[in-house]
Amino acid sequence: MTIIITGGLGFIGSNLVKRLVNEKNIVILDNFSTGRLENLHPYENKRNIKVRKVDLRKMKELEDNIKEDIDTIFHFAANPEVRVGNPQEHLEHNIVATYNVLEVMRRKDIKKIVFASSSTVYGEATKLPTPEDYGPLKPISVYGASKLACEALISSYTHTYDLTGIALRYANVVGPNPTRGVVLDFYRKLKKNSSELEVLGDGKQTKSYIWITDAIEGTLTAWRNMHSGFEPFNVGSIDAIPVSRIAEIVIKEMKLDNVKIMYTGGVKGGRGWIGDVKNMYLDIKKLIALGWNPKYTSEEAIRLEIRSLMNQ
Ligand SMILES: NC(=O)c1ccc[n+]([C@@H]2O[C@H](COP(=O)([O-])OP(=O)(O)OC[C@H]3O[C@@H](n4cnc5c(N)ncnc54)[C@H](O)[C@@H]3O)[C@@H](O)[C@H]2O)c1
Repeated sequence: MTIIITGGLGFIGSNLVKRLVNEKNIVILDNFSTGRLENLHPYENKRNIKVRKVDLRKMKELEDNIKEDIDTIFHFAANPEVRVGNPQEHLEHNIVATYNVLEVMRRKDIKKIVFASSSTVYGEATKLPTPEDYGPLKPISVYGASKLACEALISSYTHTYDLTGIALRYANVVGPNPTRGVVLDFYRKLKKNSSELEVLGDGKQTKSYIWITDAIEGTLTAWRNMHSGFEPFNVGSIDAIPVSRIAEIVIKEMKLDNVKIMYTGGVKGGRGWIGDVKNMYLDIKKLIALGWNPKYTSEEAIRLEIRSLMNQ
């Protein structure tokens, strides 16, 4: 069986490749923007992995680079940055790219798509933990809006063209060797100056963090249970923690004393940045009912991440 993993050189995508390398033939489509071949190490030269440089914004390039019979497309390529940058980036790398993937699936008769969505589709949910059938969905970032638009496109294609699609609404996924995120930010700041730590926002932003292997196993559980039409699944840990607690964990793991924590106060009611959801905590019962169980809590995931940074 051959599968495609778009964004397979990125953080989550490369971990998915490593998890499936002994079971499937894998075609990676990636534009190498944030993705790195080194992320596949030690499997970068495995014969059942083909890496193709493709920009998903270009339909023809995408179409020409799919030559095999494909069982499933794991669509993980995107601009994953939640902070406000250039909205057009999210339009093109997320929405247009997803539209192109769906169109090529239709033309080449590829039947299954597993999409990397995000908890940000919920916006400022008033129900916590938030179940998949919560609504109305009102994202507060352009990134979240782009993911919701992608979900809507996938849903419509499944019904119009007889495809099957699932969307994994991930919490904050953390893992070894991070290239962005709150733990890396704190670690770098404390490496520079171990007597003080600037924390964006009021420190009360409370969110769920999931360790990468738990996120991958959740993804595979949902994939194995795909039936028909379109289904979203939350993929998070069993809890959520505030940023202030993350600061304490990082400081303790780095064995620092007397660090002065300085909260910037943030924007719009203590957020780290405009579009930052203040409270995110996902109801994960739907995936648990299918047999998945995340091993790590948010706090444990954060601890594993800071330890991996310190061992680098
Ligand atoms: N990391 C998280 O916490 C998190 C949370 C929720 C959702 N997600 C989603 O999961 C997916 C993977 O995120 P990640 O953290 O691994 O990010 P990442 O930046 O490490 O990976 C994204 C990959 O997509 C590739 N890419 C980007 N634009 C492309 C394009 N136009 N054509 C081809 N390739 C392109 C990049 O080179 C990279 O390899 C993304 O869709 C992201 O939105 C991530």
